[in-house]
Amino acid sequence: MEGKPVSYSAIDEQTALVFPNDLNTYGTLFGGRVLEIGDWVCGIVAKRHSGKVCVTLGLDSVRFLAPAKSGDILVLKAALNRAWNTSMEIGLKVFAEQFQTREQRHILSAYFTFVALDDHLRPTKVLPVVPESEEEKRRFQQAEERRSKRLGS
Ligand SMILES: CC(C)(COP(=O)(O)OP(=O)(O)OC[C@H]1O[C@@H](n2cnc3c(N)ncnc32)[C@H](O)[C@@H]1OP(=O)(O)O)[C@@H](O)C(=O)NCCC(=O)NCCS
Repeated sequence: MEGKPVSYSAIDEQTALVFPNDLNTYGTLFGGRVLEIGDWVCGIVAKRHSGKVCVTLGLDSVRFLAPAKSGDILVLKAALNRAWNTSMEIGLKVFAEQFQTREQRHILSAYFTFVALDDHLRPTKVLPVVPESEEEKRRFQQAEERRSKRLGS
């Protein structure tokens, strides 16, 4: 199959630091902040895979699984699950790492859908992704089921 492997665009470990101004009024990491950082990282995956300008069409299955606190190191992992004609699904996982122990807690999971645009800002074709590992193949398969639900088909 013509296309690019998942590894071509995947981000295995993007780190960020939780600062005091990233917190909500309860003193834990504000959810909107982690989604903002996640959107940047997933956007880079989409841009790398397609070689084009990409915009966020939507995100779903957002799960805030555990809180993070000031001083934690965020570790973001993002990979392209599947590309269709002009759209791409990118899976995001975020961990909070306690720097003294290096212990990591899984704090967020979500799926982002990006669309590649041409020079006239119209949706444009992207290459398929070629899943190689068993896990990549499972994500590829399940992405099709999620897309059907999103499109209501
Ligand atoms: C994203 C955008 C370009 C899509 O435009 P559009 O006219 O709806 O485009 P299309 O109808 O051709 O759909 C584009 C793709 O999105 C997919 N799509 C549409 N609705 C979808 C949904 N609910 N879930 C998943 N995919 C969807 C279509 O299937 C198509 O993918 P495909 O070509 O791979 O099959 C347009 O909605 C837009 O500009 N939105 C604003 C983006 C933005 O500002 N984001 C925030 C800042 S980055």
